[in-house]
Amino acid sequence: MSIKNVCILGGTGFVGRHIVARLAEREISVRILTRHPERHRDLKILPQVELITGDAHDPAHLNSFVAGADAVINLVGILNEKGRDGSGFRRAHTELTEKALAAAAERGVRRFVQMSALGADMSDPPSHYLRTKGAAEQAVFAATAFPVTVFRPSVIFGPEDSFLNRFADLLRIAPFMPLARAEARFSPVYVGDVADHFVNCLNDPSTFGKGFELCGPRVYTLADLVRYTARLTRRRRAVLPLPEWAGKLQAFVFEFVPGKPLSRDNLASLSVDSVCSGETLPCPTLLEAIAPNYLGQLGHQARMQRLRMGQRE
Ligand SMILES: NC(=O)c1ccc[n+]([C@@H]2O[C@H](COP(=O)([O-])OP(=O)(O)OC[C@H]3O[C@@H](n4cnc5c(N)ncnc54)[C@H](OP(=O)(O)O)[C@@H]3O)[C@@H](O)[C@H]2O)c1
Repeated sequence: MSIKNVCILGGTGFVGRHIVARLAEREISVRILTRHPERHRDLKILPQVELITGDAHDPAHLNSFVAGADAVINLVGILNEKGRDGSGFRRAHTELTEKALAAAAERGVRRFVQMSALGADMSDPPSHYLRTKGAAEQAVFAATAFPVTVFRPSVIFGPEDSFLNRFADLLRIAPFMPLARAEARFSPVYVGDVADHFVNCLNDPSTFGKGFELCGPRVYTLADLVRYTARLTRRRRAVLPLPEWAGKLQAFVFEFVPGKPLSRDNLASLSVDSVCSGETLPCPTLLEAIAPNYLGQLGHQARMQRLRMGQRE
């Protein structure tokens, strides 16, 4: 199978941009559907990349978007929904995936690759986030029109991540860091390794019909990761692990803070460790090899330079 052009849903995001860059490097044409083309004008600079404005939930838009594509990659995902009943997660994860699968089948697409999350395939996932990702996976594996592959990463790190950078922002303003589920375990995986697997799998029959977990080389607790971020950003902050009831209270309060730094659904996701236990692919890049470049002194200087040049953080 030779994949020459790829349509990406969610291609404007943190992970998507790394996948797009790698596809463009291999001279594969890329079409990205976005709701906000004005925010992602920089992507148009890449040769062979086309940014299409549209609503991924509209079957007509989806149908014309995937027409002529060899492969579809679906990366759409949200960490928070507007309400609290799971319908926002269901719409963004499960329903959108079902619509993308239907459009891809109708338009004769030959390959489908889905972004899921570690824990989504467990028997009774504890959060709406994981449950709806799991239901999306089931829809993908039920597809018969093309070979499919599913990836389930642990938390993903890299210069524009919303995990370590979020803690760096909180550490800047908070005098100390009260932390819910401080002992939850993660195996952070580098965005470049994740992007490599998405691109490499496209033409690789050994990945057809399979789901792969993606984990970095080491396991850390949440408290370890926050302390490490504090060290890199030179903030002397005590990390205070919260008991269960206080974590729930914190998540409840944070749901009303702009940007929802933590929700009760996030907290429920944290009740299962984000570490690999199934079939994996190698993701060798160490957190310690990359994070100092964007959180440490070098990263600070680069951020300051971008600010001086009037660019958005
Ligand atoms: N980052 C992690 O640590 C991590 C870990 C495990 C799994 N994942 C999964 O990896 C995927 C990508 O994550 P990311 O960190 O790159 O996310 P991100 O930066 O937030 O990007 C999300 C993308 O999805 C699109 N999107 C969001 N909501 C949408 C909606 N309702 N309808 C249509 N498009 C929508 C956005 O497109 P526009 O705004 O341009 O339309 C954006 O391109 C997600 O599925 C996420 O669940 C991420």
